[in-house]
Amino acid sequence: MPPGDKERLIVVSNRLPLVLNAREDGTWDAKGSSGGLISALVPVLRRRGGVWIGWPGTIDATRAEVEPALAAVSEAYGCTFKPVMFTQQEMEGFYFGFSNEVIWPLFHDLFTNCNFQPDYWKAYQTVNRKFAAAVAEVARPGDFLWVHDYHLMDLAGELRRMGRPVRAGFFLHTPFPPLEIFLRLPWRFEILRNLLEFDPIGFQTLHDRRNFLTCIKVLFNVRVKGTGSVVRVHVPAVGAEAGPGGAIPEHSVSVGAFPIGIDFQATANMAMRDEVRAKAAALKADIRGRQMILGVDRLDYTKGLPNKLQAFRNALHRYPELHHRVNLVQHVVPSRKEIPDYQQLRLELEHLIGQINGEFTESGWVPIHYMFHHLGAEDLAAYYLAADIALITSLKDGMNLVAKEYCAAQVEHTGVLILSEFAGAAAQLQRGALLVNPYDIDGVAAAIQRAFTMPEKERRERMRLLRRTVRNEDVYRWADAFLGVTTRGGLAHVPYPEDYLPSASS
Ligand code: F6P
Repeated sequence: MPPGDKERLIVVSNRLPLVLNAREDGTWDAKGSSGGLISALVPVLRRRGGVWIGWPGTIDATRAEVEPALAAVSEAYGCTFKPVMFTQQEMEGFYFGFSNEVIWPLFHDLFTNCNFQPDYWKAYQTVNRKFAAAVAEVARPGDFLWVHDYHLMDLAGELRRMGRPVRAGFFLHTPFPPLEIFLRLPWRFEILRNLLEFDPIGFQTLHDRRNFLTCIKVLFNVRVKGTGSVVRVHVPAVGAEAGPGGAIPEHSVSVGAFPIGIDFQATANMAMRDEVRAKAAALKADIRGRQMILGVDRLDYTKGLPNKLQAFRNALHRYPELHHRVNLVQHVVPSRKEIPDYQQLRLELEHLIGQINGEFTESGWVPIHYMFHHLGAEDLAAYYLAADIALITSLKDGMNLVAKEYCAAQVEHTGVLILSEFAGAAAQLQRGALLVNPYDIDGVAAAIQRAFTMPEKERRERMRLLRRTVRNEDVYRWADAFLGVTTRGGLAHVPYPEDYLPSASS
């Protein structure tokens, strides 16, 4: 039975979209996070009476301790949030280990950052089974399961092996790597077999989908029907003897590109609030009329932060007219701090920022303002509104929602977006943004100079184009497009823009 509006939706993600805080009396308080995913999916869950399953974000509390907080927030949102708790060992092997030291770097083409520890793979399987057990506790016939991201690629397979198959779709928020990178994964057969148990399987871009299709053609000899943004894949029966991962029966799955969006209106409304406007004005006053070049990135080696700093240094060398006239305001949000590569990156960045500020600071002007902390939604909106230029230099990025949030918050239409061509967002935003190759330090520096001198008319035209795209292709449309494939039986055409391909003139 295809899931219509009446069947329940069960969403599963590694993290619940909630922020949990310990109160002084030892009890816990939970509130919804401000992301687009929660705004898009909660209305669907509420309408269908669904459940969201995930880790509540702490290992310092027991299930019994967090349950009252989750019950309160479930009541407030009109849908159920159900926790999966991790032990310290599971955090290390499953979250830091397999998810973030194997799959994360591999899927971002950075396989030299991978740590292929066999124990990590065991932990990944154990925790996927744990999530499967949590789903099995609540799933009823006819429910549709929507699984999110690289932490849970085995979930549908685990449910079938438990004897509790559930119709399930999967969306990958990260990129999917090319064949020659993917093949290095010691567990490549198992991961692909498990992914092929989902229907539909969604990717951020046509490029990611193409990489995935190439991998399954080579490893499983599948046949692909259709040419639109959603194709149907026929998977021949695979016997257990054909490789690790167990047998799979002959079947068909839909595979599509569904670029995720943001809640455009909520971000724009936030940027129009009086408090946010006042904060933005104060930020501008603090930098005394200079242009603000804004960076907001999670501390991650995929974000190209050293490249960004080198390009800024290069721009200060080559374009002395920028001195005293710009500030790079770089927010770095702490992340995955137990992983050595992340600790190393922080040291590298702070060293580089110290060097650049040491070289260029003069009385009354410190070129880089660096902040290493979490930013509240209101402060973030104020920075977006105040920034004359947003600078995003990811080496590889599933989508990059900062790019879209910046456009949505630019209610005055005067900001310039400089965007890496290796961010998924480049496919949709290529017409309004200045696209850069983050490895081309001279090129990024030239884009900074171009943005700095861009006439207001051109800024406005570009920002209008960007905002139109971000508004039209928002997170609600994304959720409808993905879930629509399940109701329309597979081959729905979702008209999304072609991939970005660099040309000599761009
Ligand atoms: O897909 C990337 C992602 O998992 C996002 O969903 C999330 O915002 C980000 O990486 C940070 O992930 P985490 O802090 O859970 O490791």
